Amino acid sequence: MKGKTKGARGVTEEGQEDHMTTTLTPDTNALREIAVLPTESALPRAARFLSDLVKEAGFVQGEILPLLKKAKNPQDWYVTRQYDGEDGSYSLKIFVWPPGTGTMIHDHSSWGAYACALGTVLEERYDRLDDGSIAEHARLRKAWQLLWSPEDGASTVLPGGGGIHRVGNPGEGVAVSVHLYGPRLEDVDGRDYDPSRDYVCDRLED
Ligand SMILES: [Fe+2]
Repeated sequence: MKGKTKGARGVTEEGQEDHMTTTLTPDTNALREIAVLPTESALPRAARFLSDLVKEAGFVQGEILPLLKKAKNPQDWYVTRQYDGEDGSYSLKIFVWPPGTGTMIHDHSSWGAYACALGTVLEERYDRLDDGSIAEHARLRKAWQLLWSPEDGASTVLPGGGGIHRVGNPGEGVAVSVHLYGPRLEDVDGRDYDPSRDYVCDRLED
């Protein structure tokens, strides 16, 4: 985040009852440069961008700490800030994770990278065992899980079945993470999985 003074185009914010003035905007030049790279080059750059970002005192004090006040009551996780490239080439999102919240198992139709900015988030990763030939059928096997704190750097996911994951906050305090997604490679945003019934479907919304 650079010390620019006005909100970037494409900024959206939830929690309008507690509206914060946007005093920082992302380094959109850096984001644009990353977004045009092929996936294998973009992922390490995205990881470096995010791991540096969550260590910036200005970002943490200006963007992250004020979120704590807003996160006292919500029952579920939410995206509190979103910065989209004008051409849809990237999307930078700040997620707030109240204690005990987490996503479904899912993938994205773009590459993705994320870093924990506050607290600790748990990432679970899954391998897909079937060949995708049966509609709405997917067999998953849990591959690994890791706890991420701000000093741990960033995690990356490939598009589609190469990046099936779930993120959540198993701790007792609020967690915040920053996510960067590259250009979508499909019309849909990704897929949601339910391994209890070997089910997969297109995601209708973020
Ligand atoms: Fe995700």
